[in-house]
Amino acid sequence: ASQKLWGGRFTGTTDPLMTAYNESIHYDKRMFNADVDGSKAYAKALEQRGIVDKVELGKILEGLESVRAEWKADKFVLHPSDEDIHTANERRLGEIIGTGIAGKLHTGRSRNDQVATDMRLWLREEIKIVKAFLVDLLKVFASRAEKDIGIVMPGYTHLQRAQPIRWSHFLMSHAFSLLSDLTRLNQLYNRVNQLPLGAGALAGNPFAVDREFLCKELGFDGIIMNSMNAVADRDFVIEFMYWSSMVMTHVSRLAEDFIIYSSSEFSFVTLSDAYSTGSSIMPQKKNPDSLELLRGKSGRVFGDMVGFMMSVKGIPSTYNKDLQEDKEALFDSVKTVSDSIQILTGVLSTLTVNPEKIAKSLTADMLATDLAEYLVRKGVPFRQTHHVSGSAVRMAEERNTTIDKLSVDDFKSLHPLYEDDVVNVFNYEESVEKRCAIGGTAKSCVLEQVKTLKEALN
Ligand code: ARG
Repeated sequence: ASQKLWGGRFTGTTDPLMTAYNESIHYDKRMFNADVDGSKAYAKALEQRGIVDKVELGKILEGLESVRAEWKADKFVLHPSDEDIHTANERRLGEIIGTGIAGKLHTGRSRNDQVATDMRLWLREEIKIVKAFLVDLLKVFASRAEKDIGIVMPGYTHLQRAQPIRWSHFLMSHAFSLLSDLTRLNQLYNRVNQLPLGAGALAGNPFAVDREFLCKELGFDGIIMNSMNAVADRDFVIEFMYWSSMVMTHVSRLAEDFIIYSSSEFSFVTLSDAYSTGSSIMPQKKNPDSLELLRGKSGRVFGDMVGFMMSVKGIPSTYNKDLQEDKEALFDSVKTVSDSIQILTGVLSTLTVNPEKIAKSLTADMLATDLAEYLVRKGVPFRQTHHVSGSAVRMAEERNTTIDKLSVDDFKSLHPLYEDDVVNVFNYEESVEKRCAIGGTAKSCVLEQVKTLKEALN
């Protein structure tokens, strides 16, 4: 019979390429902690039902800790028959405590409920780590927004100059997208943290293991109530990859803004050397590689999600080996999103903002709306004032100048309600301060946004 754990009924050997094609150990070994924790809890549940006695339980628990220690010390020696983390750990446990006892551990358990449990335990810990990185990033947003509150910049729609805004307002617009991601992450955690163990291969556990005990012991928030669903479900994997995709969408858009703003033509910001690279041929170049990678890597994260969803959509009920494809996709998503958040934190905290360049790029045409609103404040319907202000823009264009250079008499000729104080319209600071309804770009509103963000982080 074959050496494999499941080899009892097999006589022929496996095609070597098939062995390699089938194994997942080289990537799922990262779940060794989760696998040991799940097995320890399960062994305790078996002892409660008399499948193993107290002494045997003690040996199993101790043996499992030795297995964990070997992984931790990077001393775990893989055997050619170790197909995945589950078979590897069980094989090694048998060597340490003897197969007579170790062979009882898998009673009523299947790798199907085991792998689902391991994945959830593993992801749960990763979520805590990535969440801490995201919180760090958002704190940097808050402090940079506070620090640079005095800077007024051109705000864009269609990448055309639109209206003056505060630099901090722009920063906070991205921060709020990422804050929603934090909320989403908190919400999905609960759906990840559900117990599949005790479902068996598909039909349920024949030895009446206490799943409520397993749930408590492993710190799950709830029990998956249908055993077939428990082994079939990978929604929690997909949901995390969707979350990563959403984060990367936000990261990518911010990266694109910064790429544009760091170009020579804009020069609003200068990326620190720590996050830039040079060119191998053009000595003058300083390239925003960090930002381009943030933008580029979003593609692979969407790919992870879409690729695995395609794998899942057509498979029949319960466990099928297709589901093993969940791992590389998830592991890649977790690593990419977590690295990206940290890189963005570094980029943002070391970014130099160039207020003079920003100030120079403000142009009077961006105040055309304010010019129209001047008349609105005197009772003229906006649709009419929009026209009047448009005429001012045309007049300036025809004279090859800008609207702020028109004379008070020019304005008076366009509408009788323009008075000498019309010149006050041409002040960027006053323009942003007028936008003071909640959520606007006036200083007090932006500081209120920062406060909201900080409160959400506490
Ligand atoms: N390595 C497998 C996976 O990742 C474990 C489950 C195997 N179960 C089975 N019945 N072949 O999905």
